[in-house]
Amino acid sequence: MTGSAEISRKSGQVTVTLGDRSYEIVIGAGLLASAPQHLMQALPGARFAIVADWALSAYAHDLEARLNEHGLLLGEICFVPSGEKSKCFSELERVCNALLDLGIERSHAVIALGGGVIGDLAGFAASILKRGVRLVQVPTTLLAQVDSSVGGKTGIDTRQGKNLIGTFHQPSLVLTDLATLDSLPDREFRAGYAEVVKYGALGDAVFFEWLEANGPRVFARDGDALTHAILRSCQMKAEIVARDERETGDRALLNFGHTFGHAVEAWAGYSGELPHGEGVALGMVLAAKFSQARGLCGPSVAARLKAHLSEYGLPTDFKSLNEQVGRMPTLEELLAYMEQDKKVRDGQLTLVLLRGIGQSFVANGVPRDAIRDFLQAQLINPR
Ligand code: GLY
Repeated sequence: MTGSAEISRKSGQVTVTLGDRSYEIVIGAGLLASAPQHLMQALPGARFAIVADWALSAYAHDLEARLNEHGLLLGEICFVPSGEKSKCFSELERVCNALLDLGIERSHAVIALGGGVIGDLAGFAASILKRGVRLVQVPTTLLAQVDSSVGGKTGIDTRQGKNLIGTFHQPSLVLTDLATLDSLPDREFRAGYAEVVKYGALGDAVFFEWLEANGPRVFARDGDALTHAILRSCQMKAEIVARDERETGDRALLNFGHTFGHAVEAWAGYSGELPHGEGVALGMVLAAKFSQARGLCGPSVAARLKAHLSEYGLPTDFKSLNEQVGRMPTLEELLAYMEQDKKVRDGQLTLVLLRGIGQSFVANGVPRDAIRDFLQAQLINPR
């Protein structure tokens, strides 16, 4: 990949280069202990309000105590219930009121402590409070560490769909403490891993090969392997965001596997039955098979993706989806959900397709009929 992002090669640190809004992603085990120093360096003179997932109360209180020692804390932690349901207007209102009650000012900053839900919700609140206060992301899930905490997308869900209301609001700092992964449930870890694989598949064949060889070390939560996997993912995201912050072009590459994946997720009702990363795993294999069906690449591309993802129990075809969810989508259901995609124009879809592992591109104007024929064949022969 070529890009304009200047990436620090220093282990554990990536710069997202966006002019005077550039920021660091700092990655390491046990960063909590040095959080006040990182915060004071990135946001000198600021005080901080913490918005945290209530399942992380021990970690949040630890951070609270450390900030208090340095006089950096604004007031009580605002806890948010775990789960996607919190990305809603009523929680947004509650968080905004809590932060206003703390007396938040534009010189202050919000710390979002949790997974993607907290990052999106607290990030959105930060972007609209007092017309924008600064934000620090402290992502605690693998998915948030490699994807949602970086790049500035914030938002909430509505009855019409996910993330339909939101803003671009870049953080001023991302603090990724690998220690938070120690207690992450295996299924959530696995779902986050699908997004790591996405980076190799979309833009770095060497990284993909590295994952094929080192996946067991990553899953054993080996510190060096995790650092490399997260660092490389963040480097790739930083490069893409630096050259297309507002998704007018290349940023869409980050949606590899997401159009098919979102359709399956929506069909499953955005429930625990099929977490986002599992939908993405299946979606990536479908996108690779669709690329193959369009003559863009040979069969080894989808085969390698499928072999690697299924090694870790991720769904990679409709048969494994059926085994997991206990039912199969119909063709019409899948097409209906795909057409709700934000990227549909005049009945034609935009998909991210592959010419090989690490060679993705944005394909505009993919005809509905080609997708229909492809999905029909996949549903008839679900392996
Ligand atoms: N998660 C895709 C993006 O940040 O653009």
